[in-house]
Amino acid sequence: MDEKRVREAVANRKKYRDANSRYNFWIAGTAAVVLAACAAVLFGEDTGPLEILVNDPTLITHVNRNAKGWQAGEVAFFKGWTIGDVQKLGGVKVSNQAGSLTECTLPDVTPPRHFDARERWPQCFSSVYDMGNCSASWAIAVAGSVTNRLCISNPENTELELSAQQLLSCERKFGNGCEGGMLDMVWSYIKQEGLVSSTCFPYKANGTTPCSYCNEEEPKQLASICRLSTADSIRREIFLNGPVVAPVTLMNDFLVYRRDKLHVAAREL
Ligand SMILES: *[C@@H]1O[C@H](CO)[C@@H](O)[C@H](O)[C@H]1NC(C)=O
Ligand SMILES: *[C@@H]1O[C@H](CO)[C@@H](O)[C@H](O)[C@H]1NC(C)=O
Repeated sequence: MDEKRVREAVANRKKYRDANSRYNFWIAGTAAVVLAACAAVLFGEDTGPLEILVNDPTLITHVNRNAKGWQAGEVAFFKGWTIGDVQKLGGVKVSNQAGSLTECTLPDVTPPRHFDARERWPQCFSSVYDMGNCSASWAIAVAGSVTNRLCISNPENTELELSAQQLLSCERKFGNGCEGGMLDMVWSYIKQEGLVSSTCFPYKANGTTPCSYCNEEEPKQLASICRLSTADSIRREIFLNGPVVAPVTLMNDFLVYRRDKLHVAAREL
């Protein structure tokens, strides 16, 4: 629905066609990480969660009075939407096959107490997506972290952004377009088929866009996939190789997030 910011034309496509299109690094598709934290419960149980508006003025006022460190406000995109509408969009799912992924083996390093991959590799974090009316977070997060990792592992890939739309349109085994996808399993598509750039197949926020894209690129494939299941291994992996992907359980207040640092609370939408 929304205009997607499309990365400006990638300078020289030929360089992506190098023979070395299988990358030998670990990707962390993780199954069971839910960031539960900090914020107090911000609204009562009696509010009829599915019928209330996303831009619920009571919730917004409540956040702005009580939340520490962040502010809420009306979000134009959700004008007139109820929580139920958002829920219908679907979202990230985790299959029951996550256990079949092998656990990552990591060297024994101790990351510093504070580490932000965006500060460590600023050249590798340029794009922020507007998903539009499409539950594409599974595709954007996965394509995004592979993009970040290609850049981190090889400076030649600084300008490359892999196509989240390709996952939306082409991954039909574990992905269901704009209705969500299985975050732990869609990696196998990238291992088998690979992803082209988002110049070759731009983001359309549309799950029924046909699986069809430019034919002059060699898709980038993953060499291996593994799972991280402890907070310690996730920290080490990010420190060593960059972003991982994990599902997060959100509360309604996330949708009216405006600014500052949001604490994600442990209550499902
Ligand atoms: C969002 O898309 C769905 C179909 O995927 C449609 O039913 C719904 O009306 C759309 N919502 C808005 C606000 O455009
Ligand atoms: C999504 O793409 C299909 C196929 O190209 C098209 O028919 C449909 O109108 C598009 N939907 C939206 C909401 O743009």
